[in-house]
Amino acid sequence: MMNYRDLKYIDTVDIKDKRLFIRVDFNVPMTPDGAISDDIRIRSVLPTINYALDEGASIILASHMSRPKGVKDPKYSLQVVAKRLSRLLDKEVLFAGECTGPSADEYKKHLRREEVLLLENLRFNPGEEKNDDEFAKVLAQDIDVYINDAFAVAHRNHASVSAITKHVPQCAAGFLMKKELNYFTKATDNPLRPFVAIIGGAKVSSKLGAMSNLLDKVDKLIIGGGMAFTFLKALGYEVGKSIVENDMLRTALDTLQRAREKGVKVYLPVDCVVADKYDAKAESRIVTIQEIPHDWMAMDIGPSTNLLFSFAIQGAKTIIWNGPMGVFEMQSFSRGTMSMVSHVANSYALTIVGGGDTDVAVHEAGESPNISYISTGGGAFLELLEGKDLPALKALEACLHKS
Ligand code: 3PG
Repeated sequence: MMNYRDLKYIDTVDIKDKRLFIRVDFNVPMTPDGAISDDIRIRSVLPTINYALDEGASIILASHMSRPKGVKDPKYSLQVVAKRLSRLLDKEVLFAGECTGPSADEYKKHLRREEVLLLENLRFNPGEEKNDDEFAKVLAQDIDVYINDAFAVAHRNHASVSAITKHVPQCAAGFLMKKELNYFTKATDNPLRPFVAIIGGAKVSSKLGAMSNLLDKVDKLIIGGGMAFTFLKALGYEVGKSIVENDMLRTALDTLQRAREKGVKVYLPVDCVVADKYDAKAESRIVTIQEIPHDWMAMDIGPSTNLLFSFAIQGAKTIIWNGPMGVFEMQSFSRGTMSMVSHVANSYALTIVGGGDTDVAVHEAGESPNISYISTGGGAFLELLEGKDLPALKALEACLHKS
């Protein structure tokens, strides 16, 4: 795996009066009527933008929004983001209604020092997701320094994070990228122990890579959420209509066996909240895992499990958490996840939360200030947990040999 400390960061390259292309991730959640519902991804890159402004750079920002599949769709325009950014910076942010083409060229040509230009959604162009070299070349035209501060999309091999690095004289990562990688490295390389991983969410298959990699590092593994019921079924419990991946039963047992061999203590639910249907208004009750009715389904962890998990993280010095403990988007089944938020927030450990809606739960509970670090990445954070090298970081690493 690559060593992130070796990467070049924005504060180690000369950007004075230079023309910068900063790749950011402004893929922010929107309300149905087109307003930004959470601007944390915009706020998170302000340090990089402000630093570049202080250095007198002219700044071209580029991002994707959602998955428009190479076709222009006004629903996914970044114009609304330009407005929000302008308010946050207290400065005009120019907006080019395209990411490449005559209007973008015109804006770029006249961009002066300390000016900020936001390009339109990169994914309106099919070249972006294809990592198309020609598209990357156009993006890179007349750029002095390329900065990647888009951690949340670092796991995609796309033109604006990968191919573009071949066509610019200098590349570096921004401060958000630095922070994400620093916290992650701090938690996983030589962590303070006990080191506890909490993994939740619906599917074992989507977390298997992360669990498998973490087994080499952690002292305890807490498994919650829908995926716990695949493990419980594999162990012989009747789990009724709870979500189960039958093709993962063998894998679940193998994972538990590997944990035993490595001396990692695994915690699974001992009770749960079951419902007669998958509905916020469903009839529900608390049962032990031996008593799940055959036509009911588990929707959340129960109070004894909650207590067990809170004991498991007591005294931890490092905690990584990915994935909710139950169907927390339905209020009646959110208690397990919300209690976990409170246990993690009250812990004295280095606490890192990321991906799989876990951040949403933390924000909703108002506990964000009490978590050491909340990653801006979903898929990217998960791939780091899996021990994968992210394409964007590989591309930045390849740039080190340029100068
Ligand atoms: C995210 O929200 O996880 C990133 O912006 C990446 O988006 P994607 O999954 O559509 O590539």
